[in-house]
Amino acid sequence: MLILFNTDGRNTKKVARKQAFFLLCTKQLNKSEMIDLLRTRRSIRKFTEQSIETDQLNILKEVILRAPTSKNSNACEFIFIDEPELLQKLALCKPHGAAPLQTAKLAIAVLADESKTVAWIEDSSIAAFVTHMTAHSLGLGSCWIQIRGREYSDLKTSEAYVCETLHIPEGFRVLSIVAIGYAQRTHEGKPFSELNFGKIHANGF
Ligand SMILES: Cc1cc2nc3c(=O)[nH]c(=O)nc-3n(C[C@H](O)[C@H](O)[C@H](O)COP(=O)(O)O)c2cc1C
Repeated sequence: MLILFNTDGRNTKKVARKQAFFLLCTKQLNKSEMIDLLRTRRSIRKFTEQSIETDQLNILKEVILRAPTSKNSNACEFIFIDEPELLQKLALCKPHGAAPLQTAKLAIAVLADESKTVAWIEDSSIAAFVTHMTAHSLGLGSCWIQIRGREYSDLKTSEAYVCETLHIPEGFRVLSIVAIGYAQRTHEGKPFSELNFGKIHANGF
């Protein structure tokens, strides 16, 4: 428990009130739903057969459109994929790391019109992460499948493969596909003891 003292060492009423207020804030912060979600978030790679409800789908559609964009360019577009055959095709977009799409009930391809903003990677990343966190808050699991910079084969990029598969017009870049569904098993959040606070620097590296 934190005790605050006056400079002369006396714990006056005023200081005690401040202390109570501080403790209340800390308690409230610790109870924050957002912090709880961030503490329990994990990447989920295997999903059950359970379908995603329409209400959940609608929320995902709404929040993805609320993601902030640089200079409010709104250059991102989102393709919601729930056709099983298409999901299986997308699971082949790269030799490793796309397997979550095999069991996903839904996938959201996050793309952007590169001509509209130099910050298309940042904008798309925020949208993908918002999707990842919202899925978690809805009791769904999800996994970011990286597309940009990955290879389908020696001759074709994963981006080209996804553009072909989803009929994406020229000029659009595909950052990622978020695979979504109900998790096959529970995954614990990363333990506090594993966090490397040495990576946090004060006033300079
Ligand atoms: C930019 C980015 C790309 C990622 N690409 C993939 C991917 O292609 N396939 C995959 O299974 N996981 C992918 N992940 C998930 C990471 O592997 C995962 O976040 C990391 O291993 C930490 O695990 P956690 O998310 O459960 O804490 C990606 C994550 C990020 C942020």
